[in-house]
Amino acid sequence: MSTTETGAVTLRPMRWWDVDGVMDLERDLFGDESWTIAMFWSELAEPESRFYVVAQEGKEIIGYAGLCAYPEESFVQTIAVKRDRQAEGIGACMLTALIDEARRRDEPMVGLEVRADNETAQRLYARFGFEQIGVRKAYYQPSGTDAVLMVLNLKGVDPLQWAPHE
Ligand SMILES: CC(C)(COP(=O)(O)OP(=O)(O)OC[C@H]1O[C@@H](n2cnc3c(N)ncnc32)[C@H](O)[C@@H]1OP(=O)(O)O)[C@@H](O)C(=O)NCCC(=O)NCCS
Repeated sequence: MSTTETGAVTLRPMRWWDVDGVMDLERDLFGDESWTIAMFWSELAEPESRFYVVAQEGKEIIGYAGLCAYPEESFVQTIAVKRDRQAEGIGACMLTALIDEARRRDEPMVGLEVRADNETAQRLYARFGFEQIGVRKAYYQPSGTDAVLMVLNLKGVDPLQWAPHE
């Protein structure tokens, strides 16, 4: 990925030395349901199938996002923006980078899971054309919150083909 800039904010690939800064945001935004450092390390250890970006301003990381891309399906693994920098378009910019990468890899779809109570994120995804295809009950622990499954169809396939079989 080439580095892109939106104003003073730079979007670039995530590197191992970014993980501490990413974890600061992760813990603040996701609390008990945060990923661990080990999870980020293991994602970065799979560069063939993973595409992670950070949004940086000066030396500070203010957002991050990641895509997992297998041959027939890809998934938004995570996306987050520092609390006081939300609603500036940074999330949309990172999501655009992930979708561009999925298209570059000729993926038929991009899927994701989002908390049922996270209306802000669901609105963002819907704006990009993601459609709701199902719900996973009590997916997020320890809270027991449901996950909504959403799919962005990149090749005209019926998105319900990716719906969970209950
Ligand atoms: C979800 C999340 C990543 C979105 O990132 P973001 O940078 O706030 O998203 P954007 O700014 O691109 O868009 C969000 C809203 O801000 C609005 N917005 C965008 N640029 C704006 C600007 N310059 N001024 C004012 N509003 C703006 C957008 O229209 C959008 O509003 P809408 O959803 O009502 O249409 C962010 O809110 C976040 O980190 N939340 C906590 C973690 C989380 O829930 N992650 C998702 C897990 S699935």
